[in-house]
Amino acid sequence: MFSSSGAVPLPVAVDQAGLKLDGPDGLKAIAASRRVRLVYVTPSHQFPTGVLMSLSRRLALLQWAQENNALIVEDDYDSEFRYSGRPIPALQGLDSHGRVLYVGTFSKVMFPGLQLGYVVVPESLIPVFRQAKWLCDRQSSLLNQYALTDFIGKGHLAKHVRRMRHCLRWAAACIGCCFTSAQQASAD
Ligand SMILES: Cc1ncc(COP(=O)(O)O)c(C=O)c1O
Repeated sequence: MFSSSGAVPLPVAVDQAGLKLDGPDGLKAIAASRRVRLVYVTPSHQFPTGVLMSLSRRLALLQWAQENNALIVEDDYDSEFRYSGRPIPALQGLDSHGRVLYVGTFSKVMFPGLQLGYVVVPESLIPVFRQAKWLCDRQSSLLNQYALTDFIGKGHLAKHVRRMRHCLRWAAACIGCCFTSAQQASAD
């Protein structure tokens, strides 16, 4: 997607705290020789490792973006369903300089056939995004959007997420137990 609009994607290494900033394979080293304008991250659930970006790494990334006049795309595609640890604030919530474009989807939390996502952008960028959406995609179902707005407005989405989190935490624990038993069985 980025390449098709003329951007040159540059891979950045990830460690146990998320996207690396320091070191020879970190963002700062890469940005030393190239003008980096946009950083794409999935901090709640790095794809494909599943690593959660730490709070200190989030703050460092925001500071870097501010110092380097860059934007961050925060793709928070699977943030609703976490089963362990304390939730960490989104980059978008930590940002006070309008550096973050927050992207979310209803594919996971509701169902993929809904085909609805959303982007939260700094106020100054709303006209640009409205125009881009108008030019490249007028296909989102109005009926689905109205129904979803009603669903959210009446508090059903929040209730649904709570209920599903409970069910899925239980399912994840069961899978974990099966996995441990299978490991023990194969070790015996
Ligand atoms: C990295 C990433 N971002 C976003 C999404 C959500 O995409 P969509 O809304 O098209 O289902 C996915 C789906 O698995 C994903 O892997």
